[in-house]
Amino acid sequence: MSTSPVKLGLPSVHGYAGVMSDFVYFVGSSLDGYIAQDDGGLAWLDKFDEVDGLGDSYKAFADGVGCVVMGGGTYEWIRNHHPGEWPYKVPCWVFTHHEFGTDDGADVVLVRGDVGTFAGELRRDAGEKDVYIVGGGSLAGQFVAAGLIDRIVLTIVPVALGGGVPLLGGSPLAVPADFTFEGLTERAGAVELRYRRAA
Ligand SMILES: NC(=O)c1ccc[n+]([C@@H]2O[C@H](COP(=O)([O-])OP(=O)(O)OC[C@H]3O[C@@H](n4cnc5c(N)ncnc54)[C@H](OP(=O)(O)O)[C@@H]3O)[C@@H](O)[C@H]2O)c1
Repeated sequence: MSTSPVKLGLPSVHGYAGVMSDFVYFVGSSLDGYIAQDDGGLAWLDKFDEVDGLGDSYKAFADGVGCVVMGGGTYEWIRNHHPGEWPYKVPCWVFTHHEFGTDDGADVVLVRGDVGTFAGELRRDAGEKDVYIVGGGSLAGQFVAAGLIDRIVLTIVPVALGGGVPLLGGSPLAVPADFTFEGLTERAGAVELRYRRAA
């Protein structure tokens, strides 16, 4: 384990002249708009990993990702539930006020502050690839509120939880009105819905 450097509200690099990547919130949700149970439980969602094709969709998306972004809650959940199995090969930016450690080999930077402050750096880090907003809902909601999410890929599974961690940190199932529905894929009752922010 090693300790990462902490960046506190550094100014972003604006005016990046390369190919523009998308900021994408790629997420799985219950029928009633929750991305985890109150205790962080994801077993209700994980069982759909076995559905043919669902994993392929994530793999195709992940191949086009240049950096990942998550909140401290999600970071903690991953490290508690998959110790020593850091899942990302690309740089990961974690928004948190904690001084978390990192798994060996994980490229993780801890930041805090207004998400918009970091948009330029995230885009630069991703290069020509996409910025993957992993979640959770609280952090993704801040990116949406800042007008920084270009696409939402929302896989809804046919399970109702009745409560838990909301999709965007506010009301469950609230894909913002300025997003246009682009298409869907259905597999064994799980529906992948794809949205893009109107230009
Ligand atoms: N279903 C899915 O596809 C999916 C995807 C992702 C996550 N999840 C689940 O969602 C749950 C976590 O979601 P969540 O919404 O509760 O938490 P989260 O968004 O992962 O993290 C929220 C925490 O991050 C820190 N934070 C957020 N914004 C910040 C900012 N701008 N600056 C500094 N710190 C900031 C704050 O905590 P501190 O300051 O205390 O660090 C905040 O309480 C986990 O159970 C995870 O497994 C599910």
